Amino acid sequence: MSHTATRSTWSNRWAFILVTIGSAVGLGNIWKFSYLAGSNGGSAFVLVYLLCVAGIGLPLLMAEILIGRRGHGNPVTAMLNTAEETHNSPWWAFLGWIGTIGALLILSYYSVVAGWIVDYLWQAFTGVRVETAAAAEAGFAALVQNPVRLGLCHTIFMVLSVGVVARGVVSGIESANKIMLPALFLILIVLTLYGAVVGDMSQALHFLFDFKAEALTSGVVIAGMGHAFFSLSLGMGAIMAYGSYLDRQTNIGSTCLWVVVANTLVGLLSGMAIFSLTFGYDMLPSSGPGLILQTLPLVFSHMPGGQVFAVFFFLFVLFAAWTSSISLVEPFVSWLTERCGIHRVKAALLTGVPVWLLGLGVCLSFNDWSDYTILGRNLFDALDHLTSRLMMPLSGLAIAIYVGWKMGRAVVGDEIKLERGAFALWFTVLRFVVPIGIALVFCYELGWLKWLE
Ligand code: PFF
Repeated sequence: MSHTATRSTWSNRWAFILVTIGSAVGLGNIWKFSYLAGSNGGSAFVLVYLLCVAGIGLPLLMAEILIGRRGHGNPVTAMLNTAEETHNSPWWAFLGWIGTIGALLILSYYSVVAGWIVDYLWQAFTGVRVETAAAAEAGFAALVQNPVRLGLCHTIFMVLSVGVVARGVVSGIESANKIMLPALFLILIVLTLYGAVVGDMSQALHFLFDFKAEALTSGVVIAGMGHAFFSLSLGMGAIMAYGSYLDRQTNIGSTCLWVVVANTLVGLLSGMAIFSLTFGYDMLPSSGPGLILQTLPLVFSHMPGGQVFAVFFFLFVLFAAWTSSISLVEPFVSWLTERCGIHRVKAALLTGVPVWLLGLGVCLSFNDWSDYTILGRNLFDALDHLTSRLMMPLSGLAIAIYVGWKMGRAVVGDEIKLERGAFALWFTVLRFVVPIGIALVFCYELGWLKWLE
């Protein structure tokens, strides 16, 4: 493999931690976490989510980085290389393809949702106010009914994402994360403090952390598990691609611990900020996917300093989405550059254009094309279901089986470099807890566990 000599490497261990946190922290932590917690009994969902992050997410994150670094290539090549080294079938490369293609499919609708944030940021910037709940609802409906507005915002977001990846691994991806992530953390801390002063933080804390056993239904368990997956970017080649640029000295275990802690912290802090405002302004936490797009603009319009607060809030969400979308572009771009020898800028365009077109279809699926459905779902829902509910768990399951059962203890131990006890614990969890946990989510999604409800 001639390309390996010229492959980039992150500047240092912290750069890798930063970009991986950037991939993990995204719309999932803010938009999805808050509305899922809001509609799944608050603390019960949070508890399950935290347990799954520790029991499934962390071990799988380590396994994905391990494959990427050992295979030293884009997800497809990394799977091929490790399969060859460990005398496994080259068909395992298929797993790399599931991740790479899944990432592009996620990007096509992720970019449309991020486009909503671009639109709301613009509204906040120009001082648009919403006085009543009905107006907030109508405002959101007006956006999704307007294909031109949706398409424009989606286009802006795609250009931002593809542009960073085109600039390269270190000067594009790493630099963008180095600027955006610290800004994101700063904004989040200010927002949480502000939420505590202006909103009702104590009710938010009760809602998120007072454990109520009766709220712990099987549906909540499954939602918490699925979300742990999405929020840590697992199974979609993104983490594997990032891991392939990691130097051999870095300790994967402690690195992943940082990523998981930071990712969880962002979810919890934004939950605290969002719910303290929601409760402080007497609104319902269970209003569903529109929570941050309908509830918060209304809150912002009525609070002191609301416009500035709104601008920073949507900027924070945009940064989070942007650093995640970059990681969705990278797997295919690195495949094009490494396998086909295509220049990175051209590869980024070749990746971006089809995804952008598919995204335009997603924009239309809310309005002009809403009558066209796939298995009863519009294109947006169909893509979300296919990727986060089918491809991610399947791919995660396969990764756990591959690293846990196929690669062999010697190679895995050599790459992960954990001390004996820690290795035994991680390896056992990866071999048993992770596959069983994911299999349960998967069966539930297929409707095989409906009787549990
Ligand atoms: N983890 C991202 C979020 O929480 O928004 C979403 C994501 C990014 C999923 C990258 C999958 C992925 F490969």
